[in-house]
Amino acid sequence: MDGREPAHSTRELPADVLPHLDPALTPLRVHLGSAARAHVARVRRMVDAAAMDGLRVRAAYSVKTNPDRRLLGAVRDEGLLVEAISQLEVEHAVGVGFAPDRVVLNGPAKWWPVPVTPGPFAAVFCDSVDELRDVTARPHDGAPVAGVVGVRVRPPGVVSRFGVELHDPSVLDAVAGSLSHLRPDVRVGLHVHVPAREVGAARWWRVVDEVVTAGVALERRSGRPVRCLDLGGGWEPDDLLRELLPHLPPALAAARGRLTALDDVVLEPGRAVAQPLAALVTRVLAVRGERGATDVVVDASIADAPEVGRSGHDWFLVRPGRGSALVRVGGTGRVLGRTCMETDVLHAGLRLPADVRPGDVLVITGVGAYDTSKSYRFGRGEAPWPDGGTELTAVTDA
Ligand SMILES: Cc1ncc(COP(=O)(O)O)c(C=O)c1O
Repeated sequence: MDGREPAHSTRELPADVLPHLDPALTPLRVHLGSAARAHVARVRRMVDAAAMDGLRVRAAYSVKTNPDRRLLGAVRDEGLLVEAISQLEVEHAVGVGFAPDRVVLNGPAKWWPVPVTPGPFAAVFCDSVDELRDVTARPHDGAPVAGVVGVRVRPPGVVSRFGVELHDPSVLDAVAGSLSHLRPDVRVGLHVHVPAREVGAARWWRVVDEVVTAGVALERRSGRPVRCLDLGGGWEPDDLLRELLPHLPPALAAARGRLTALDDVVLEPGRAVAQPLAALVTRVLAVRGERGATDVVVDASIADAPEVGRSGHDWFLVRPGRGSALVRVGGTGRVLGRTCMETDVLHAGLRLPADVRPGDVLVITGVGAYDTSKSYRFGRGEAPWPDGGTELTAVTDA
């Protein structure tokens, strides 16, 4: 984040939180329903605006980021696709109303635990040469597995456990060989996922260019046109709305100059869609002033927001009879989680007012992505899985 006003935030206490400020009910995660609809609609409009003649641009919301049915409902109603990394996610998405042809399959274990539908899916991006061989070897009769089949590319210099190095001639040969078995009515695609939030925008655009270069080589070697590029996720909400989408049309025009059959671009935003759409309401349990700064202990913990601090949050203090105020950052006040874990510090630089009291409420915005989906129950005397069993997933033949 670069200090600009967040595109997704009004820096006012979100209206959807107002009915949920009762300190007797904390800690509480609140889905910001009206904000969700407006934000998803905005993403959809901006994605639509990046399309050009003969080239459509679609967003596939990454289900794992937050599979909340209300959020998926907003995504469904706006006509977006979803991206799923397991058959359990496919089942969930289908249950929310996504036909398989609105589902992009990605990741190394997309068929796990057992296929729940024959598809056809919108797209399948294979994580290895072996997986591509299996997918293209599926029987040619009946419906195709997907409208688009391709591989995830690991561009030169990118360190990742995922994808294939198409710049290696032997890998290029193997991928081209598999594509010769792909039904002619299935379009070839390439996927890349290098998070812009980690590598920076300039490197990210170079990565896109490297994938186009790989696509040109694949077209030459296989004789099949590359018609779809899937450019992954990895953006903060502001990055998507202010950096990626406004700069996409010229980049796609340049890509189409080299991949002349390119007619489909998919983006897989996860946190850029989900992050602004939940807030955490927590109550101050104790106030400590010994360090010359005001620290508070709250009834939430890093178990409730495990990625807190990795991205921009707004913090609001709500006090009985005194309304709500944005708490400025830049101080030395700490928000200490309720557990006895050394790392359980939710913020270490807030300007908390000296008269903050136990019973006051803090609202943390921007916890709708992995802060929600990776949250866990901790310090509550509960076993992490039901009945103390050892099965993490119950898949039975029953
Ligand atoms: C293949 C793929 N698509 C999309 C995403 C979503 O990423 P983000 O939430 O950072 O946008 C991920 C996240 O790891 C991913 O691996």
